[in-house]
Amino acid sequence: MAAMARLHGTIFFLLLLLGTAAAVPQNDDPRCRPTLPLRRGAIAVYPSDMEQLQFLLNAKFVEAEWFLHGALGRGLDYLDRNLSAGGPAPTGARKANLDFRTTEIAAELGYQEVGHIRAITQSMGGFPRPAIDLSADRFAAVMDDAMGARLDPPFDAYAGDLNFLLASYILPHVTASVAVGIAPNLMGYASKRLHAGMLAVEAGQEAVIRLLLYQRADEAVAPYKGRTVAEFTRRISDWRNGLSGCGAKDEGVKVLDRRQGAERRTVSNILGAGVDSLGYGRTPAEALRILYGSRNEQVPGGFLPSGANGTVARGFFQLA
Ligand SMILES: *[C@@H]1O[C@H](CO)[C@@H](O)[C@H](O)[C@H]1NC(C)=O
Ligand SMILES: *[C@@H]1O[C@H](CO)[C@@H](O)[C@H](O)[C@H]1NC(C)=O
Repeated sequence: MAAMARLHGTIFFLLLLLGTAAAVPQNDDPRCRPTLPLRRGAIAVYPSDMEQLQFLLNAKFVEAEWFLHGALGRGLDYLDRNLSAGGPAPTGARKANLDFRTTEIAAELGYQEVGHIRAITQSMGGFPRPAIDLSADRFAAVMDDAMGARLDPPFDAYAGDLNFLLASYILPHVTASVAVGIAPNLMGYASKRLHAGMLAVEAGQEAVIRLLLYQRADEAVAPYKGRTVAEFTRRISDWRNGLSGCGAKDEGVKVLDRRQGAERRTVSNILGAGVDSLGYGRTPAEALRILYGSRNEQVPGGFLPSGANGTVARGFFQLA
């Protein structure tokens, strides 16, 4: 009898599932369209939108190569050779020494960047992958600069989970904040849709890395005695603020004064944000000052040794 009841229960559950599946509306269902009809004459993409959204490609190429190589030991060309459009392979990128979970997380973030690169190039146009330096030396130089000391031994971004997460902390903030920064410039409805979809995931990426680091905030980063995870993130954030030269738009995962936290009430700072917990916005120039490590959007270097590409970034070179 009990078996019978269980069987009935199972069948009922299966029917329920089928019913739900049937009720899931299809994409062409009019009830699933945006509630506000497009106003007459609405334009999907403006030429200036294309320039702004293409700018994000620069940072996304860097992130894609970083996360994919760290997780898989292979990069964008392994997943979709077309997307790099013949641009040079990154230098110095390699598989990091990661545990299973961290590998999965890094791979997922890398795959997401591949999607974003495809989405931007297909709808906004693009350019070949720029030259990218992801060598351990590059990260070691960033960490020395951020920590204001020559770390001994040099910081190895590929050595293990914690180092990889700390190195990962450097990048998504730049992309997320510049995405916030360009938002007011976008005018077309398709541009805004693409932008919002990417920003949602980019901000999520930053939060994932920050949360993983927050969970280890008070741990010392071996072998640097007394230097905690919280301190590394604080100093990397200060480094970004210093390079970009536009004030305090960035904080570590654990702040020193709770008045810097959400509603001035907490030292935890898993999502870095300003007044009213609104994400900070950076301009393309600020993003380049950080990615170039040069404090100057006209002077390439750092992660993009030959400079970023696209109309916006190349416009700065013409000013130089
Ligand atoms: C790459 O481009 C070629 C030629 O346009 C096309 O045939 C191929 O399907 C593309 N590959 C991928 C993975 O999209
Ligand atoms: C920028 O893209 C163009 C093609 O659009 C290419 O010819 C050029 O080499 C690229 N420059 C850099 C710095 O990657």
